[in-house]
Amino acid sequence: MSNANEKKLAGEAALRYVEDGAIVGVGTGSTVAYFIDALAGMKDRIKGAVSSSEQSTAQLKKHGIEVLDLNAAGPLTIYIDGADECDPFRRLIKGGGAALTREKIVAAAARQFVCIIDSSKRVDVLGRFPLPIEVIPMARSLVSREIVKLGGQPVWRDGVTTDNGNWIIDVHGWRIADPVALEQQLNQLAGVVTVGLFAQRPADVVLVGDQEI
Ligand code: 5RP
Repeated sequence: MSNANEKKLAGEAALRYVEDGAIVGVGTGSTVAYFIDALAGMKDRIKGAVSSSEQSTAQLKKHGIEVLDLNAAGPLTIYIDGADECDPFRRLIKGGGAALTREKIVAAAARQFVCIIDSSKRVDVLGRFPLPIEVIPMARSLVSREIVKLGGQPVWRDGVTTDNGNWIIDVHGWRIADPVALEQQLNQLAGVVTVGLFAQRPADVVLVGDQEI
């Protein structure tokens, strides 16, 4: 089966986890786009959505799904999002679409995080996909130098500005044996807004195609 078919199946299968009356946390990316299209079929049974990006907001609104501010929505029962990599402990690399900061916030607000991926995203050890880090623009070089000291190869995602007005550094060359420790360490660097490791708060459920793993 193609990756696109697996993404579509995963997006549709995620509906199983959406309860009637829920405010649904919605991630970003091509897999989530399939989820949003599927969610439109039950839009009259949900209260609305909290979105992690301008891209997902536009798609939700196009389907007539109300998009709520997280501050008004309160705690969420469910967050659905894709990932760039997923290890056997449901720890993730995210941020390929540059939406990692809002994704991490909405994930943190949700009781259950359901991650939807195709099988190409599964790895034994995180790090084959370059790790995205969102930084305050003036700290780009400072953070990059610190990453080099930690053995990584930082590459500025030139031309990309996040929805929050920040920049992205993609770190190549790391085999991330302890993602919780690295997430904590990188979070301490001045100028780092968000690290694309979702290890301290991993996914609760991972759907690969329509199969829960
Ligand atoms: C965006 C993300 C996405 O979830 C991740 O890049 C996966 O995208 P796709 O579903 O298109 O493969 O983290 O910041």
